[in-house]
Amino acid sequence: MYQAKMKLNQEEQDILAGKQGKTMAKMMEVLVRYGDAFGADCLVPVTHKKAHFVTSFGLGLLKGVYPLMDELIAAGCKVEGGFSMDPRPLDYKNVKCDPLEKLVFNNFMYNKQKVYEEQLQKIGLKDPEDAFSCTCYLKEMGNTPKKGDILSWSESSAVVFANSVLGARCNRNSGILDMFGAILGKTPNFGFITDEGRKADWKIILKASKKPEAQILGSAIGIKVMAEVPYVVGLDKYLKDLPDEDTLAYLKDFGAATASNGAVGLYHIENITPEAKELGTKLLKDNVKEYVIDDAELERIYKSYPIMWKKMDAKVHRCFIGCPHLTLKQLENWTDDIVNGLKKSGKKKLVIDTVLTSSPAVIKEFQKEERYQKLLATGAHVSYICPLMYADNPISGKKVLMTNSNKLRTYTKARYFKDQEVLEMITGQKEVK
Ligand code: F3S
Repeated sequence: MYQAKMKLNQEEQDILAGKQGKTMAKMMEVLVRYGDAFGADCLVPVTHKKAHFVTSFGLGLLKGVYPLMDELIAAGCKVEGGFSMDPRPLDYKNVKCDPLEKLVFNNFMYNKQKVYEEQLQKIGLKDPEDAFSCTCYLKEMGNTPKKGDILSWSESSAVVFANSVLGARCNRNSGILDMFGAILGKTPNFGFITDEGRKADWKIILKASKKPEAQILGSAIGIKVMAEVPYVVGLDKYLKDLPDEDTLAYLKDFGAATASNGAVGLYHIENITPEAKELGTKLLKDNVKEYVIDDAELERIYKSYPIMWKKMDAKVHRCFIGCPHLTLKQLENWTDDIVNGLKKSGKKKLVIDTVLTSSPAVIKEFQKEERYQKLLATGAHVSYICPLMYADNPISGKKVLMTNSNKLRTYTKARYFKDQEVLEMITGQKEVK
C-alpha cells in the first residue's frame, strides 16, 4: 500500500487500504500522490458538490479513458452532486463542415463521443443537452459556487473565474483528477485551497488611458506572472461593482487570457473581486514584484502575437466570437453592434462566416428574444461548440480562422483581433489585413 506523506484520517486510510473496494483505493492513491507531490498536508472535503470537468470530448486517441470509465461504473462510483462539462466539440448544424472535415471528426477524432457521453451519464451527468459549457458558473447554467466553497473542478477558464470572481477555492486540476476528487468528495490541501496560496506575488499597476481590451490585459499579465497570483490596481475605475453583467463578462474574458497566455489560476482586482474587497493590500506578499502596464505595453503585447496565416490578407474562412462562451449580455451587445455595423457598411449580410458561441442555457434564453432572429438574419450562427476542439481537426485548423479570443489564438493558428476590429471586418467596414 502507498505510504502517504500527508496526514490521512481513519476513513481515508481505510479507503486507501481497499476497505471500500479496489477502484476506490486506486482513486484515493492517485489523489494522495497528487497532493504529496505538491506538499499538501491533508485532504479537505469538497463543499460545492456539483463538479465541472474539462474532458468533454470522446477523442478516440484517449484510449485509457473508456476502460477507466467502465471500471468506475462497474464499481458503482458516482459524483454525488452531478457535474457540468466543457463544451461539446461538434455542431454540424451551426458550424458547417465539408465532407473531409466530417470524415476526420467522425472517424478519427471524436469517434467515441456517444459512448463517452453514455458513460458520463452513468457516473452522474444529468441533462446532457444542457450540461456542456465552459461557463458553467453563469446563472443560466446554474453551477455557481459560493465564496469559500472548495471545488474539485478543472478547465482553466472556469477555475480562474471561480477562484477570483466567486471567491471559491480550487486548484488547476487536470482532467480525470477532477473526477476522482469529485467522486471521493476530497481534494488535497495546497495552493489555492489555502489562505497563504491565495496571496499575491505580483502587484500589477495599470496606467492605461482607457479601459483596456480584457483579452490583451489578461494576456499581458499571464505572460508576465505565469502561474503566480496577480493583484491588479487601477482597473476598478473602469468596472462597475460585481455582479454587474459587463464586469462579469470582462473578468471572464480577462481571466481566460491570464490562464491560457500564462497559467494563472487566481487573480485579485482591487475594490472589485471578493477577497480584494475584504482584505485589500493585506493580500500582497512581503516580497511582491511589480509590473506597470500602460498603453504602450498593451500595444507591445498585441503586436507581439505571431501571425500564423500564410498571407496577411488571406480570405477568412470563419470567425469565432466567444471563447470562453459568451454571456447573454455579450450576445445581445454583439447583435446590436453587428446590426449597426451592417447599417454603416451598407451591407445586408456579414462578409465573413461568423459563429458566436455560448452555453446551451444562455442560447435558450437568447432564442426567446427578438434579437436572436435579427442576428440570424445577418448570416451569423450561434453555437454551443468549443472552437478550439473544432480547430484541433488538422483540416479545419489549416483553414484561415480569426477570433477575438486570446485563448483560441494561443492554442490554434487563428489570428486574434480586438473586438472593434472583428466587428468592422465581419460587417465589411474594414478589410482584413
Ligand atoms: Fe471554452 Fe473551448 Fe474556449 S472550453 S474557453 S470555448 S477553448
